[in-house]
Amino acid sequence: MERKLLEICNRQIEREAYSSNLYLAMATWAETKGLEGISQWLYAQSDEERDHMMRFIKYVSERGEHAVIPALEKPPIDYGSVKEMFDEVLKHEKFVTQSINEIVAMATELNDYAMLNWIQWFIAEQFEEETSVQAVIDKLELLGDKNLYLFDRDIMSMRGEH
Ligand code: FEO
Repeated sequence: MERKLLEICNRQIEREAYSSNLYLAMATWAETKGLEGISQWLYAQSDEERDHMMRFIKYVSERGEHAVIPALEKPPIDYGSVKEMFDEVLKHEKFVTQSINEIVAMATELNDYAMLNWIQWFIAEQFEEETSVQAVIDKLELLGDKNLYLFDRDIMSMRGEH
């Protein structure tokens, strides 16, 4: 694997690991507010991010390279509202999509067809994640803050809709 491709894959390991911790931090915040459904959604999301990190770690290792396990920045511990928190989730997922796109662009430039083939799963996954977070935000806007109880009760049923 070309050095710069390895470096950008290791950067992605760090970003997926941070995503997992970010959603864990959001999950514990939601728990302190008594929002059990929302926290379950975020714990599940955090598990998915760990899976994304593991996919990169295993792929880098399979290519005979050294996957570097990073130190992580501390995620925020507080949010002004549930809506503000989900806006942050969407913003973060768009950032991750951009990050995956940069890997695709580099693999294309380097004619690394094995990498291009492998990363297709992430292209589909990012599309799915952005769509599903947008659906959550749409529902939240529809119900409004006064109906947070209903939103919290129903959010888990929205997983896997997209
Ligand atoms: Fe692994 Fe949600 O990006």
